[in-house]
Amino acid sequence: MDEYLRGIKKLDSMAKLIGNKKVKTAVFISGRGSNLLNLIKFSRQKKSPISIDLIISNKKALGLKYAKKYNIQKKIISFKFKTLAEKKILHELKCRKIKFVCLAGFMEILSKNFIRNFKKKIVNIHPSYLPKYKGLNTGVRALKNKEKFSGCTVHYVTSKLDSGKIILQKKVMISKNETEKSLDKKIIREEHKLYPKAILKIFNL
Ligand code: GRF
Repeated sequence: MDEYLRGIKKLDSMAKLIGNKKVKTAVFISGRGSNLLNLIKFSRQKKSPISIDLIISNKKALGLKYAKKYNIQKKIISFKFKTLAEKKILHELKCRKIKFVCLAGFMEILSKNFIRNFKKKIVNIHPSYLPKYKGLNTGVRALKNKEKFSGCTVHYVTSKLDSGKIILQKKVMISKNETEKSLDKKIIREEHKLYPKAILKIFNL
């Protein structure tokens, strides 16, 4: 059985094991946090297998305002020294018994060592139909290349940028007069539907 599948199976049995309790989850952000807000709202629904118990940011991100609003613990950890930063994050996660991590606009690449420590329970959302357009400025690049569609993808996190196994993705058609702004808007709207769906899929729900 491949390692990802093993990870998923573990999560599944974990969900069964904890019964009605939700899997403690941390969301890592660097920006405005619209996916974070969306995940918080999702996590508070009965059908959600996760609860959001910690928000990690590498800087004073706008999205941190949701920590206060929804009464969730937050930690700002600078990545100036990456090894140290990851050590601190790992400590926070372990202390709080966090078992699942959602990256949502987190602008740092986590090391192999960090990811291994957390055993394949880290997922990310990316604003393109992967494997096309990894990295930044996905919308502009898709428009420049006159693509017919772009999209969004939820995938497992590896130490290689936007390259882990795909969990779920959604195409977004690019119209004739599409601008960067209008495309971003269309994609983020789909992201907000896709991330919760992907989480339900991970937990076999
Ligand atoms: C989203 O487009 C996400 O796909 C990418 O970064 C953006 C974060 O947006 N990884 P937000 O901070 O969740 O609004």
